[in-house]
Amino acid sequence: QSSALSVTVNGRRHQVTVDNRTSLLDLLRERLALTGTKKGCDQGACGACTVLVDDRRVNACLTLAVRCEGAEVTTIEGLAAQDGERDGELHALQRAFIEQDAFQCGYCTPGQIMSGVACIREGHTGSREEIREWMSGNICRCGCYVKIVNAVEQAAR
Ligand code: FES
Repeated sequence: QSSALSVTVNGRRHQVTVDNRTSLLDLLRERLALTGTKKGCDQGACGACTVLVDDRRVNACLTLAVRCEGAEVTTIEGLAAQDGERDGELHALQRAFIEQDAFQCGYCTPGQIMSGVACIREGHTGSREEIREWMSGNICRCGCYVKIVNAVEQAAR
């Protein structure tokens, strides 16, 4: 069965018809060509697919696209400024990831950054332990955890 869906992604409204079983992750990657959001495990275990839905962090692989009717979705592609004057200027956390060298292969990075944005926005940055706890659903196989916490700390300042 399919459903008509209206969803706003990074400020742009999309109207699509999707199979009811389609995940938000597949909608983003396969239908909207927003491949910055990564597919790691496709079962809620790695955090590579993390995006914001109405400003709340979710695993896009576990979220049905049809549940996003009317929602505002933000992906890694939508983080940099898109307002003309500062167009393309990186988000403070994106800059911090670069400055802190908080990645190696980079595959988990979009999910890490989206999780980190939610961490800062929701105020879970009181200590390194609190940041680590919040970010614990985002796996990094290169083991960049210390630098990732450094980056979140830097951007939260
Ligand atoms: Fe969604 Fe791993 S791809 S949590």
